[in-house]
Amino acid sequence: MSFLDQIELKRVPEHVAIIMDGNGRWAAMRGNDRTFGHEHGVEAVRASIKAASKIGVKYLTLYAFSTENWNRPKFEIDALMTLLVHVIKAETDELNRNNVRLKIIGDRNSLPRRVIKETDKMVEKLSQNTGLTVVMALSYSSHWEIINAVKCIANDVKKGKINPEDISRERFHSYLSTAEIPDPELMIRTSGEKRLSNFLLWQLAYSELYFTPKLWPDFTEEDFFEIIFEFQQRERRFGKTSEQIKNLI
Ligand code: IPE
Ligand code: IPE
Ligand code: MG
Repeated sequence: MSFLDQIELKRVPEHVAIIMDGNGRWAAMRGNDRTFGHEHGVEAVRASIKAASKIGVKYLTLYAFSTENWNRPKFEIDALMTLLVHVIKAETDELNRNNVRLKIIGDRNSLPRRVIKETDKMVEKLSQNTGLTVVMALSYSSHWEIINAVKCIANDVKKGKINPEDISRERFHSYLSTAEIPDPELMIRTSGEKRLSNFLLWQLAYSELYFTPKLWPDFTEEDFFEIIFEFQQRERRFGKTSEQIKNLI
């Protein structure tokens, strides 16, 4: 029986975030260069978008490129950017048919012009859709995002738009790149690494974390369903006791 049949559709997380890791190792195991792994990672992106759509997840955030990834060899960065533009062009129609919307988060100014141009076109083309929103984290890092938010808040205080006393958790959240999106209930990282690598540090404050040894190109729809099923077995207490949680149900 597929894990899909065991998922309680009424309790599917609204927002799932994924650190898509392990492409390089996947390629190395096959005697190929890292780019080969990135190319095969695209299939896993398709699978996770399909799986998330199928069970009614509203937001799927995919960590595609971190600000730290700019420190990789130039040929790998160039190959990744070329692959990105290629995939965007090739996938837009299919995503549109599946009612998927796209949002890009990250340091836009550091991206090559061709990437900005193609992602803008794709976001615009999918903007009227009402199904799953795929949030692509591109040249993203939490430190960048939080510092950016602090700068904007400081500017608004200087202009007299807000008072320092008004800076609440909600207000701070409204300055982040995920302002209008609920925080992820679940964060998945592939490849066996157990760290956040500067990903959504504010937003993951109370998320359930799931680490799988599978390398990203091997990740399938069924893996996604299995993780959602496992997530549904967990008790999220938010600081309360188990008894309090059970009495509330
Ligand atoms: C994740 O796979 C993709 C990106 C970071 C762009 P990696 O390229 O990090 O693969 P590993 O972790 O070296 O195997
Ligand atoms: C995190 O993976 C970034 C992405 C998946 C895009 P990395 O492979 O770059 O992270 P580290 O270096 O293992 O922390
Ligand atoms: Mg990696």
